[in-house]
Parts: sequence; C-alpha cells; structure tokens
Amino acid sequence: MKFLLAILVVLLLAGGVAAFVVKTGRLPIAATTPPDFVDRVAVTAKFKAVVRGAAGLQVTVPADAASVSRGREHYVENCLPCHGAPGVKPAEFAEGMNPKPPDIDGQLQNYNDAQIFWVIKNGIRATGMPGFGVNHKDEEIADIAAFVRHTPRLTPEERKDLAAAASHEDHHHEGEGQPAAEEHGAEPHHHH
Ligand code: HEC
Repeated sequence: MKFLLAILVVLLLAGGVAAFVVKTGRLPIAATTPPDFVDRVAVTAKFKAVVRGAAGLQVTVPADAASVSRGREHYVENCLPCHGAPGVKPAEFAEGMNPKPPDIDGQLQNYNDAQIFWVIKNGIRATGMPGFGVNHKDEEIADIAAFVRHTPRLTPEERKDLAAAASHEDHHHEGEGQPAAEEHGAEPHHHH
C-alpha cells in the first residue's frame, strides 16, 4: 500500500511539473531552439501516427509519365518552396523552419506509397506540413505522390525543366503584386 501511494505521489508530481512548464510558458517553443526531447518525442509520435494512419489504406500510386507530369505541376506550385527538389533550392524562409522540410528525394522515400499518400493528404500538425486533402482530390494526391516517388530518378533534362518552372513561379508571384500597385495609383480618384 505504501508503495502504491509512493507511485501515485510521483505521478502527481510529474504531472504537476509538466503542467507548470506548459502553463508558465517554459516549454521551449522558439523555432531556433536546439534539438531536445520535444523533437525526439514528436518525431517518434509522428512516425507511429503515419504508420497507423496509412495502415489498411488502399491506394495505387501511378507511375506513368502523364501522372508524374500532372503531379509535377502540383508539386511546383504547392511543395517546391518548402521542400525544394534535386537541383532546386527551397525558398529562403524554409531555412528557418523547425522541423525543416526534408529533402523530397531523401529518407522519406523509405515510406511506402500509402504512407506518402497519407502524409500529403492529411499533413502533419504544428510542423508547417499542410494537409492537401482540404483542396485536392484523391486522384490529384496520387499524382503528387507519383511525382514524389519519381524525384530520386530525375533526368538532367527534368531537373532543368524543374529549375526553370521554379523561377517562372517566382516571376508569377512578383506579377501578382501589380494589382495592388494599380489600386494605389487609382486612389486619388476617391478624393475627387
Ligand atoms: C510550408 C512548408 C511545406 C509545404 C508547402 C509542404 N511541406 Fe511537406 N513537409 C514540411 C515539413 C516542415 C515537414 C516535416 C514534418 C516533420 O518532420 O514532422 C514535411 C514533411 C513532408 C513529408 C514527409 C513526412 C515525414 O514524416 O517527415 C512528405 C512526404 C512531404 N512533406 C511531402 C510534401 C508534398 C508532396 C508537398 C506538396 C503537395 C508538401 N510536402 C508541401 C513542410 C512543407
């Protein structure tokens, strides 16, 4: 009985310390925090949850050129700034992210097709990895996964195309600033 009581006290103390750390703002939340136990717990939790989420998921990730090409278009628009690609650097902001968006042709290729599909569809909360299921159909997500699968085997030609597409995207976004400038220029009319 004394033993059980001791365990109970220890559990209550541990819970109390955890609540104290969280409620007094002492959980290190800055993106610049050096790697610590929070990352270790989070990485394990994420991996286990992806495995569980994708278990029993029936998905076929296509491998034909048309699917890969459709997937590439989505990728350039939705993923490239964070993840980059072989031969294409991620955007500057991605350097300050924690966790860092992983190389798309790297370790994450160890996931099976269903797991990659699940991650793209559902995202990973509190990491910056969006859930694309909110605005993409399953077939589109399968195409994106097809391109992700293809990235370790990009030909030099494909890398060049991708780099060109990436810089085109930049111009596209610069162009989007123009309507705002016009609006500003039109302002004097309101004062007439
Ligand atoms: C705003 C930045 C951002 C965008 C945009 C983004 N990702 Fe991610 N992605 C991340 C981050 C950060 C992680 C790492 C999450 C972690 O370590 O828990 C990640 C992880 C992943 C993973 C691996 C999951 C794991 O266990 O680490 C895959 C696969 C992935 N992203 C694919 C994509 C694809 C495909 C797209 C586009 C459709 C995309 N991401 C768009 C930030 C982003």
